[in-house]
Amino acid sequence: MALVERPAGGETEVMSELHERHRAVMPSWLALNYDDPMEIVSGKGNRVTDAEGNTYLDFFAGILTNMLGYDVAEVREAVERQIARGVVHTSTLYLIRSQVELAEKIARLSGIPDAKVFFTNSGTEANETALLLATHARGTDQVLALRNSYHGRSFGAVAVTGNRAWKNSSLSPLNVHYLHGTDRDHPAFRGMDDAAYTADCVADLKDVLATAVAGSPACLIAEPVQGVGGFTMAPDGLLAAYKEVLDEHGALLVSDEVQTGWGRTGSSFWGIGNHGVVPDALTFAKGLGNGFAVGGVVARGDLMDALPANGLSTFGGNPVAMAAANAVVDYVLDHDLQSAADRLGRAVLGGLTGLAELPSVGAVRGKGLMFAVDMVDPATGEPAPALAARVLEEARRRGLLIGKGGLRGNVLRMAPPLTLSEDEAHEGRDAVIDAVRAVDAAARA
Ligand SMILES: Cc1ncc(COP(=O)(O)O)c(C=O)c1O
Repeated sequence: MALVERPAGGETEVMSELHERHRAVMPSWLALNYDDPMEIVSGKGNRVTDAEGNTYLDFFAGILTNMLGYDVAEVREAVERQIARGVVHTSTLYLIRSQVELAEKIARLSGIPDAKVFFTNSGTEANETALLLATHARGTDQVLALRNSYHGRSFGAVAVTGNRAWKNSSLSPLNVHYLHGTDRDHPAFRGMDDAAYTADCVADLKDVLATAVAGSPACLIAEPVQGVGGFTMAPDGLLAAYKEVLDEHGALLVSDEVQTGWGRTGSSFWGIGNHGVVPDALTFAKGLGNGFAVGGVVARGDLMDALPANGLSTFGGNPVAMAAANAVVDYVLDHDLQSAADRLGRAVLGGLTGLAELPSVGAVRGKGLMFAVDMVDPATGEPAPALAARVLEEARRRGLLIGKGGLRGNVLRMAPPLTLSEDEAHEGRDAVIDAVRAVDAAARA
């Protein structure tokens, strides 16, 4: 790979030519992983190859998006068949058979009564749509969200994002109040068991409703497992307990399943199922297209149909994305990938939990094929984003791609494709353990 030298703060920085060109024309806030960022040029199964010919097992899957891995014949052939017909786009002015078929499947899988589906291109647009449905139905701009949440990058989605690291603006079309639910380490809750924490969170919701809200809110939007937030999660059942209170006020529950849908949490097809409740609306994106751009919202038909004006998404639900997404859903169901996520998730998490004994590790958690390790300063216990970045480098050296996140950037995040094999699960788990141990030892040396 061609290298270039550039002056940086008095020293000379060496970077690849592509990295240099990226810096020149892409926004500075578009973060790249690794000191020497990687260009992935091909993929097969659950492995990718970079421009230098190195192959990696992928435990982050394009941020949980390559849900079936790479070059999946069923998806590729479905897309190729659609392209061969000569129709990549028609617009929603015409009937699109594959769109109706996918909507029927998702409506059925959602468990939402009389559900209807609207397709978008991204999770952000999906959440915008859900927020529009809820605020219109309820006639208020007041929305509840969870602290440490991430829901996307538009004004409405940023407004319900409770993670300062991703909040570029306070300008908002919504009036938002934030609830507890994933902050067990907050001084007010430390040491509490699930039942006590749940009771306190519900009491806080009642308090917010009794003090800070005019009338009643439109909805609560919540991720069953917070993705960008660092795979932080409410105790199972909390969102059901919240819904009970919301129901008393006529407020709706929107589950953001952009990261947690399609069986990834193992114990449930939708993340919200772990709470034992069906939401009024549910949003999805990422894994559904296995890399093809598709998102959407499935909601109670009465909410969906209540919007008074026209609406469409030009590219949302286009025939190519629909071909891919139908193939993905069929694959997930035909191969029972939810059960695989449950089984393999336990195997990986079981191995990772031992890391919690290391001084550089604050906590280890996971659900299905979502795993997180919090890296902390071994001396102070404070979040250590630099150590998390070092683990990414060490994992790369061991042939494994992982991600990071969390409010303070110190959380290792792993979410391999749902098609992971048992051997790959062990290989990735062992590489993570090895990388974290190496970084911990160096941090204490
Ligand atoms: C839970 C959640 N909601 C919404 C979004 C936004 O999706 P998109 O980037 O497709 O707009 C994301 C993206 O990471 C997400 O994790």
